[in-house]
Amino acid sequence: MFPSFGLVLLLGSTVLGGAAATRTCGSTLTDAEIVAAEKHFQANKVTTDQFSVTAATVKVYFHVISKDTTAAGGYVTDSQIKEQVNVLNKDFASTGLSYVLANTTRTVNSNWFINVGPSKSLQTTMKNALRQGGAADLNVYSVGFQSTADNGLLGYATFPSSYSRSPKDDGVVMLFSSLPGGSTTNYNLGRTLTHEVGHWVGLYHTFQGGCTAPGDSVDDTPAEASPASGCPVGRDTCAGGGPDPIHNFMDYSYDSCMTEFTPGQAARLRAQMSTYRKVNI
Ligand SMILES: *[C@@H]1O[C@H](CO)[C@@H](O)[C@H](O)[C@H]1NC(C)=O
Ligand SMILES: [Zn+2]
Repeated sequence: MFPSFGLVLLLGSTVLGGAAATRTCGSTLTDAEIVAAEKHFQANKVTTDQFSVTAATVKVYFHVISKDTTAAGGYVTDSQIKEQVNVLNKDFASTGLSYVLANTTRTVNSNWFINVGPSKSLQTTMKNALRQGGAADLNVYSVGFQSTADNGLLGYATFPSSYSRSPKDDGVVMLFSSLPGGSTTNYNLGRTLTHEVGHWVGLYHTFQGGCTAPGDSVDDTPAEASPASGCPVGRDTCAGGGPDPIHNFMDYSYDSCMTEFTPGQAARLRAQMSTYRKVNI
């Protein structure tokens, strides 16, 4: 069935364009798994027009994991976290969702900083120790991804539909240096968290399923054969439907290239949040 761990975003053209990215993302969320997830969603969907509200605020619990108390060791500043939440609010403005920082925790633990990664028991240990709030609350963990297995990873996230089965696992784990002002070139404007939170609210990659319908299960994001890298304006990898959605937050483009969620994605994420996180929007 649907995996309890989420999708991963890898850094660097060698992994983004090659088999590693396809394997890492494709094996965690196959087309068959998406079919099962979408069947459940359609059968249980809460229609959002039954609510009088058109906006909702998500509480953010931000957990800084660092090797020591230096910038290079992952000890991101409060102002970076504040700016990161500002970026989320700017990027999600068209969807009706906004974000407010509820708490910041700081844990100096070099083992977690270096070795936490997807599908590892260590990330379960970390989340069990630190997660706060319920289904509607966003927990973010900033780490270093410095183990050989996870080197190059920008982040990974769980989906709304996974919450009820694995509540403590719920949230986003991200590379500390991808926060605004961080040291990861081309990926340091805060769009890694926007992208990962896109998964956390129920969106798939725009290249999910390649050129084959239903792709990302959103009608107004043109199908795309593979992840975009950099900012390849005019790229068009599938016949019909228009150019690839390289400016979409759910593609793999540079931070500076990402500018939008579509109205179709906004409608989907609102229904996902209503159905699985009981956020009435
Ligand atoms: C923030 O988290 C810390 C550590 O878990 C906790 O002691 C504190 O009460 C929390 N503060 C708020 C305002 O939730
Ligand atoms: Zn992703």
